Amino acid sequence: MSRECMESIRNFKVDKGSAALWWLGQMGFLVKTPAGTLFAIDAYLTNSCKKIGDSLGLNMDRRVPIFIEPEELDVNHFLCTHSHQDHADPETLGRLRKERIETFVGPGLACESFASCGVDRAKVQQTYPGGKLQVSDLTVHGTFAMPTDDSDLNHMGYVLAVENGPRIYISGDTDYSDLLAHVRKLEPDVMIGCINGGFNNMSHWEAAELAALIQPKVAIPCHYDMFPDNASDPQQFRACLKLKAPQVRYEQLDYVKPFVVKS
Ligand SMILES: [Fe+2]
Repeated sequence: MSRECMESIRNFKVDKGSAALWWLGQMGFLVKTPAGTLFAIDAYLTNSCKKIGDSLGLNMDRRVPIFIEPEELDVNHFLCTHSHQDHADPETLGRLRKERIETFVGPGLACESFASCGVDRAKVQQTYPGGKLQVSDLTVHGTFAMPTDDSDLNHMGYVLAVENGPRIYISGDTDYSDLLAHVRKLEPDVMIGCINGGFNNMSHWEAAELAALIQPKVAIPCHYDMFPDNASDPQQFRACLKLKAPQVRYEQLDYVKPFVVKS
């Protein structure tokens, strides 16, 4: 199942002027460009957070299936928004077949996680809010994100801009801040935002406020589904979006089903 899933994504053809997205749960996404380049973002492909949850008396037993085993993940570039374990997961990183991944991109502490999990430092590309990297036919813009606690003060988000195509904003884990509105300058077509409210992330209400400020065409909720003790209802985001940003279309993605974005 895992191998077939990866193969179908690898074989999926992306038309010029568009991008394809697959949701893996939590903030894990795959993005494919017309050149056929595949990017993983915050791919959490194990159940490693269960142990942390158990030690804290929290239920962090993943409830989203693992659609692609780490060993099967066949992407060109691996991006993380910060170092927390549901984003830059040491077990996922440790089990990846790293030889087929060209670069590992993230802010400082995420880069330390890459290196400590066996990624060759020559493949690690550090970036930052306001930074810009050209990777294949995609420009990776780093965006601001407000840290949710002091365990990693280096959170960020991304706007992934396909050459002559759509721009996709992924918020990363972030507390609400007026500074997030700077993303509007990058004119994203799609906003993918955390909505869970737990552990200091944006709530559904705050994420809808952010959509009103940024004005994407489409808003997609994420990071509400993986853990019993960090879950929320995306319908609340849909309802808030109706009130705060009625011109922004709500889309709730199905897992590992291609969602094609055009600019
Ligand atoms: Fe998270």
